Amino acid sequence: MLLLESVCKNFGGLPALSEVSFHVPKGQLTALIGPNGAGKSTLINCITGVLPATSGSILFNSQEISGLQAHEISRLGISRTFQNLRLFDRLNVLDNVMTGLTCKAGSSMVMAMLRLPYLRHRERQLRLQSLEALDRFGLESKKSWPAEILAYGDKKRVELARATVGKPNLLLLDEPVAGLNSEETGAVGEQLKLLRRAGHTILLVEHDMELVMEIADKVVVLDSGRCIATGTPDDVRRNPLVLEAYLGRMEATA
Ligand SMILES: Nc1ncnc2c1ncn2[C@@H]1O[C@H](COP(=O)(O)OP(=O)(O)OP(=O)(O)O)[C@@H](O)[C@H]1O
Ligand SMILES: [Mg+2]
Repeated sequence: MLLLESVCKNFGGLPALSEVSFHVPKGQLTALIGPNGAGKSTLINCITGVLPATSGSILFNSQEISGLQAHEISRLGISRTFQNLRLFDRLNVLDNVMTGLTCKAGSSMVMAMLRLPYLRHRERQLRLQSLEALDRFGLESKKSWPAEILAYGDKKRVELARATVGKPNLLLLDEPVAGLNSEETGAVGEQLKLLRRAGHTILLVEHDMELVMEIADKVVVLDSGRCIATGTPDDVRRNPLVLEAYLGRMEATA
């Protein structure tokens, strides 16, 4: 579904991604792991058009998407969460989730101002869909709360509800359980498993190895901007290059 070929990204001449190539198979959960600063978020930003790749090719269902704007990529059905939360603080929880559907609303500004019956019906549908998404993440009772007063764990779940509400073709999750306690992590893990079982294609950036090993079909490992291994969770766990990347970093910080 997603094919990356020799993707490079430089920041002021310094390489953050160097010749990264791998693919994300349709209907599978692929985990993208690697030590801090490996380039995982940068890669997600390049795939979603938040940052332009310096060079290389990114194909989504055989269409070149490198060079497209973020909103054009989102319209193709690629949805994401951010490592650092990006909610609309002043909007309530339900409206935050509904923003995940606005590109599907299919109405122009003029149509919206006329408040045609069709549009009111469509809005009700989008609202219902958003409530279902909130319910999946146990947030329906907080639908009217302004996002800014939510606890951190709830904010992470609102982001997940927003990213999944439109049933995206490809879901990119940047550390969805970072900072959550073990109970919250377990609940999000269950939701990810359900999404995976429902046939969603997911690229998951995650440091929680227990979760990755449990739910990933395939693992891609980045280290210092390079892809150093791909394979099943078991292959990767035993790969000496991966062990060195992680242990080396641990020794350096010890
Ligand atoms: N906007 C930016 N400008 C300059 N350098 C950047 C920028 N964004 C990231 N970098 C650098 O690119 C490298 C990769 O960063 P990135 O955030 O992609 O890593 P990561 O794998 O997501 O790390 P973490 O696990 O800590 O989230 C780092 O050296 C980082 O300092
Ligand atoms: Mg990151």
